[in-house]
Amino acid sequence: MEVEFRIISYCTKEWKEAVKLREAILRKPMGSKFTGKELEEEENMVQVVGFQKRKIVASAVLVPLHPRLKMQRVVVQENLRNHDIGSRMMAFCELYARKEGFRSIFCHARQSAIKFYQKNGYLEEGDHFDEDGVPHVKMVKSLQKTTQTLRKE
Ligand SMILES: CC(C)(COP(=O)(O)OP(=O)(O)OC[C@H]1O[C@@H](n2cnc3c(N)ncnc32)[C@H](O)[C@@H]1OP(=O)(O)O)[C@@H](O)C(=O)NCCC(=O)NCCS
Repeated sequence: MEVEFRIISYCTKEWKEAVKLREAILRKPMGSKFTGKELEEEENMVQVVGFQKRKIVASAVLVPLHPRLKMQRVVVQENLRNHDIGSRMMAFCELYARKEGFRSIFCHARQSAIKFYQKNGYLEEGDHFDEDGVPHVKMVKSLQKTTQTLRKE
């Protein structure tokens, strides 16, 4: 499944297409939309999208909170799921985070997506909580080398 990941700019035609995809997957089923404030705040965030030919089929939003990077609004178009697109997008985000010197990535994972994040090396941290009416848990991936890894090198 050929998907090319890129970082796009805020408020462009591509950004609007990505917002539509995120809204359809994350908000519409709950009968809600992104608020104007939520979308305005995206100006200071990093927009990651996956293109299949010229269509956006995956997206994630990264929030720089040095030394940590928060990852949110992670989606893959429904009919393309379970083809590793989400995991490849995680790898792209991780590469970005390492290049920019972040020490860890974290997200508030929907309970339904815990398995997906575990598969990609994230660990649960703390208690489960409610966010936008959906049960979530914080999941974290450290980007620092462990002493064990360093010894092996
Ligand atoms: C989570 C999501 C981005 C994963 O994308 P994807 O391209 O299907 O991911 P991959 O193909 O790399 O990995 C799929 C794996 O995650 C698991 N998974 C993903 N979503 C799941 C869900 N809702 N329930 C259970 N398992 C899920 C699959 O079982 C699969 O595991 P396996 O490889 O061991 O079989 C996609 O399912 C999605 O857009 N879900 C709806 C939005 C959402 O919940 N986003 C996360 C918000 S925190």
